[in-house]
Amino acid sequence: MTDPVILSETKNLSLSNEVRDCHALRPRNDYVGLPRPSASQRRCRLGVNIDHIATLRQARRGKKPDPVKGAIICEKAGADSIVCHLREDRRHIQDKDLSLLKKAIKIPLNLEMAAAEEIIKIASKEQPSQVTLVPEKREELTTEGGLDVKGNLEHLKKTIAGFKKAGILVSLFIDPETIQIKASKEVGSQFVELHTGRYSESKGGGRAEELKKLRRATEFAISLGLKVDAGHGLNYKNVVPVCQIPGIEKLNIGYAIIGRALFVGLEKAVKEMLKLLGR
Ligand code: PXP
Repeated sequence: MTDPVILSETKNLSLSNEVRDCHALRPRNDYVGLPRPSASQRRCRLGVNIDHIATLRQARRGKKPDPVKGAIICEKAGADSIVCHLREDRRHIQDKDLSLLKKAIKIPLNLEMAAAEEIIKIASKEQPSQVTLVPEKREELTTEGGLDVKGNLEHLKKTIAGFKKAGILVSLFIDPETIQIKASKEVGSQFVELHTGRYSESKGGGRAEELKKLRRATEFAISLGLKVDAGHGLNYKNVVPVCQIPGIEKLNIGYAIIGRALFVGLEKAVKEMLKLLGR
């Protein structure tokens, strides 16, 4: 039977019939049997954010569950990169996790971080493949908005130049706005990661509007020579329209995958998401 929740989520979006059908006809929690999108549909790569494995560990300040072990399982399941956020308040990932992660995985490690002196020093020492600069407020539950690149041109230029000199790729987590995209190019970033939070939180026509903004922002960023990733708030029900935006290379997803892993296991949760991305 058609799931009314999923139908209402997808009816205003310009999905292909094939993808719309597979969303509408499956029971809500069965993602495994979804048909793969056809070869002509874009295939996004997947970065799995493992922060929330550490959130659970930190709830008891213990050793388990181990985010490093989680990263190895994600890699084995086919994830293209591992993402973690070393926050200034260390609420989930700890300094030690970072160095262990770097040694444990073969796929790229993308470190989300504030452009703060202490964290810049740690990143320069640990040398992840990529850093993604994000805004950070202590009181927020998660990264709530994009980075104000336009308002921090000089500091970001200097920070990015340092990372590039060390051979570390740089991405900036920004809202899908022209002014921030232009500024990202100006400060020398190679990537932008478009914040999909507003898309994820909106419904109906509002969601279609947010999707359009993401599409336009992607086109504009690519026209400036930037590579485009996206993420935040994406889940098994809302991810397909975003991965179909031409030009988006990778989606970084954490909360939904780690949450689902509690019930189906991490390997299966990652594989299900990969399938939705046409992989
Ligand atoms: N990308 C960035 C830059 C983020 O800060 C986060 C959240 O840590 C994500 C992606 C993943 O968001 P979510 O956990 O909602 O999938």
